[in-house]
Amino acid sequence: MANTILKHRLATRADYPDLTALIDAAISELQKPFLDAAQIASSRIIMGLDTQLIDDGTYFVVEQDSAVAGCGGWSWRATLYGGDRSPGRDAALLDPAKDPARVRAMYTHPDFTRRGVGRLILCLCEEAARAEGFSRVELMATKAGEPLYRACGYELLEPVLDDRGGVAVPLLRMAKAIVGAGRPQSP
Ligand SMILES: CC(C)(COP(=O)(O)OP(=O)(O)OC[C@H]1O[C@@H](n2cnc3c(N)ncnc32)[C@H](O)[C@@H]1OP(=O)(O)O)[C@@H](O)C(=O)NCCC(=O)NCCS
Repeated sequence: MANTILKHRLATRADYPDLTALIDAAISELQKPFLDAAQIASSRIIMGLDTQLIDDGTYFVVEQDSAVAGCGGWSWRATLYGGDRSPGRDAALLDPAKDPARVRAMYTHPDFTRRGVGRLILCLCEEAARAEGFSRVELMATKAGEPLYRACGYELLEPVLDDRGGVAVPLLRMAKAIVGAGRPQSP
């Protein structure tokens, strides 16, 4: 019988080819119900893998049966979203005492959706951010990502239209308080 347990680890630069292929498939297939072809093309410029997260040790890979099923991470840097090809990234360090940590670049391979991969990665990100002293997390959601984030307790801050890829893509800035979340409360 196949091992269906999800396993996770930190990504390394050696994962780059697998991760970019997975992200390409996720953007191509899973955005289709929400975006037209021009918006999907635009998404490839404003989204994607940010290798800074791999180098920071804040980017996770989830595997099932030795196949890469999903990836995603978090950050203590100012960039809210975007990949290596996206304009305007900002590597400035955030202050856990006043800034929300970022959740970044969440993707599940189309063959592995609705198996809890995204939820697992979000939990890993929130736990790691909490351990670094952050009490809130913020992210820029796609329409495809919105159901996952709402299911995991994220609330809408504002809708955004990003046209830096040539055609406007609808996005949602969302946030969640993580202090005490998932931890037993003291009496
Ligand atoms: C968003 C994404 C990462 C979700 O990944 P996933 O691994 O399928 O999500 P999960 O299996 O962990 O889903 C957890 C819960 O989120 C909600 N959810 C996730 N995807 C959903 C969908 N397509 N429709 C409705 N609810 C959904 C459900 O409540 C689900 O729980 P359930 O399956 O028990 O009902 C994936 O769809 C994806 O890669 N999309 C394209 C890329 C993208 O837009 N990424 C987000 C960037 S901000």
